[in-house]
Amino acid sequence: MNIGIVGSGNVGKHLAAGLTRFGHHTFLGTRDATKLTEYTATHPNVTVGTYASAAQFAELVILAINFDGMTSALELIGTENLAEKVVIDTSNPLEFSSGKPALSLGWNTSAGESVQRWLPQSQVVKALSACGRNSMLNPKSAIGGDPEMPIAGDSPEAKQRVGDMLTGLGWTVVDLGDITLSRLIEPLTLIGILDNFRTGWQKDTQGWKFINLARSSPV
Ligand SMILES: NC(=O)c1ccc[n+]([C@@H]2O[C@H](COP(=O)([O-])OP(=O)(O)OC[C@H]3O[C@@H](n4cnc5c(N)ncnc54)[C@H](OP(=O)(O)O)[C@@H]3O)[C@@H](O)[C@H]2O)c1
Repeated sequence: MNIGIVGSGNVGKHLAAGLTRFGHHTFLGTRDATKLTEYTATHPNVTVGTYASAAQFAELVILAINFDGMTSALELIGTENLAEKVVIDTSNPLEFSSGKPALSLGWNTSAGESVQRWLPQSQVVKALSACGRNSMLNPKSAIGGDPEMPIAGDSPEAKQRVGDMLTGLGWTVVDLGDITLSRLIEPLTLIGILDNFRTGWQKDTQGWKFINLARSSPV
């Protein structure tokens, strides 16, 4: 599949390089390609260009943007370039003003819902947010056991598409419901971060599993 990854931070670079190992073609969008000269040289399979070009190239777009930069990023991408496309929102709305990590919004909204509201013509799926980047592409070996990836979104078809991709990466996918369920997915990250603070941040290998004995097979 042609996957456009927007934002060339830790997550974006990791996904753009790693997804090619699963047979995907990736295009990494950045505001400044000059800072990626070394990355481009060592990852010839990844195309690098503007945010808009990454979105135009893609059948599926992954937003690897910090939430407080999301509206400016969407402006640069051009919402028309995301229309009728499946868009994965990986973002966690975090803020650190009190000195401790906290959610910058929640309870009655979420980053996932905000992104869907800003992209009314796209099918937004919350996914790949409740895990560390080092386990995104190899959950079973990074975390151990059979960790699950909670997802949420309004379009069943989009969730199926994202679910198929995540299953291909080794995830067991749990569809929690519509995009408002992002409110419950995003706080999971905070638990992971606080746990990392307590344990010295030596690993990026936490994962989640929701046990429901009545569920016979993953969604
Ligand atoms: N790190 C993890 O393990 C992890 C795990 C799960 C989810 N997430 C989520 O994934 C997202 C990316 O995380 P990250 O660790 O990759 O963050 P990061 O290293 O800070 O990278 C974020 C990227 O977003 C783009 N960006 C930042 N501010 C922007 C603005 N004002 N306008 C447009 N683009 C802007 C930049 O890309 P360019 O400079 O290339 O334009 C930047 O490199 C976050 O929302 C985070 O919550 C992270």
